Amino acid sequence: MPQILNSLITTLRDSPRFISAKNELLATIVESSESIQGVCSGSRSEEMINSYQASLKEFAKNRGRDLYFPFLASGIGSGPWVELVDGSVKFDMITGIGIHFFGHSHPALIEEMIKGLPGDIMQGNLEPGIEMNDLLNALLSRVGEGSRLAHGWLMCSGTMVNEVALKIVRQKKFPATKVLAFKDCFAGRSTAMQEITDNPSYRQGQPTYGEAHYLSFYDPKLGLNESIARTLGEMKELFIRYPGQFALLMTELVQGEGGFQYAPREFYVRIFDEAKKAGLALWMDEVQTFGRTGELFAYQKFGLNEYVDVVTVGKMLQACALLFTSEYAPKPGLVAGTFSGSTAALRTARRVLELLDEGQFLGEGGRIDRLSTEFVHGLEALKSSSCKGLIGEIRAVGGMIGFEPLNGTMDDVKAVLMKLFDLGVVAFYCGHGPYLIRMLPPLGAMESSHVSQVCRIIEQALVAVGAQRRAEPLKGKV
Ligand SMILES: Cc1ncc(COP(=O)(O)O)c(C=O)c1O
Repeated sequence: MPQILNSLITTLRDSPRFISAKNELLATIVESSESIQGVCSGSRSEEMINSYQASLKEFAKNRGRDLYFPFLASGIGSGPWVELVDGSVKFDMITGIGIHFFGHSHPALIEEMIKGLPGDIMQGNLEPGIEMNDLLNALLSRVGEGSRLAHGWLMCSGTMVNEVALKIVRQKKFPATKVLAFKDCFAGRSTAMQEITDNPSYRQGQPTYGEAHYLSFYDPKLGLNESIARTLGEMKELFIRYPGQFALLMTELVQGEGGFQYAPREFYVRIFDEAKKAGLALWMDEVQTFGRTGELFAYQKFGLNEYVDVVTVGKMLQACALLFTSEYAPKPGLVAGTFSGSTAALRTARRVLELLDEGQFLGEGGRIDRLSTEFVHGLEALKSSSCKGLIGEIRAVGGMIGFEPLNGTMDDVKAVLMKLFDLGVVAFYCGHGPYLIRMLPPLGAMESSHVSQVCRIIEQALVAVGAQRRAEPLKGKV
């Protein structure tokens, strides 16, 4: 990587005054953060409670819709714990739907943000900062052996990188424009992405353009061969019905919103081979899976490096990127955009990649793998003891951990989520029935003891909601 030798910023960041101010600021933040040592309900004076309720109400009014949880972050936390504005502290097991893999107030990330302070706040495509190039270098150097990914662009949301992925493939494949995707997939909420997302309730009142078509995903109940045969049959039918009209196949190798479902490698290989034969580009949407599955890219976890034409990443990276092969480089005018990210976020994103390497998070037996297994063992132990009948399926791939509470209805999930929140754990839901409690925990800031503490709270919540459910029919009869 070329070094910047003469710029003023290097002199500034290396100057004793800057370093001393940075260290002082960092130490002050760390000291404050370290005073957070676990779940607590904060100071519960009536004044505090009323003021918090008023802020929540005002925020809901400003948005025109209630929040899912009474959650307003104060801006500080400590590892897996997040502080709310009312001074309460919760275990954050959903991390803004997968953003804060390294937990809250991580010193190395804060330090990186401080280094980004001297200059401009936001960066974009016409006048990029060196941070944009550094981040692309860091991503492209990690795409793995056999990968053909050679270029990248940075955008400010997962939805936007997905839009660009779709556009660059369509430009190349013109006049083919149609999209093949798997049932239950999620791609974001823009007009195009909400059409690809297989959830009609997310596009109520919105037009669809007949561009997205769905394939059945792998079904463990059917088994490998039947699943492959079913999906290949559907593909064949679609290719006959719409000859030459499909541009690409979009795949979430582990479905996030759809409920942490994934297929064995052989399923992907057979379907991808067939799609390639038909001239489709293969786009992996790794906005949620990136860095979570135990490998940096989920396609590496499944050994599919050479198949990928375009990949999109976001969330835990702190920035969003699409990477693509030379074949798909866009013509001028197709891709740009004012914002590519804040300077602090772009720096932090590069640091996230370094921290994943430094902390031995990735690979078999890495920290993600180990903590994920501990979570699963904890949930299985509950399932076979105090929570018998209260936990159904448990699904986990690395830092994507879910379980079916009670009967797996949305009512069950919501009741358990609210109870968990009261007891000090923030989680969320996924799946399309059964619904699951979804956790995207900050494994980058967790130890085994945190996993057991969270499992204990899950146990309390399930037992309480289970008892409530058992009492409900009785209540009706009295
Ligand atoms: C698989 C997948 N794709 C795309 C998106 C959209 O990303 P964003 O919310 O950053 O626009 C998400 C967000 O949850 C996602 O999980």
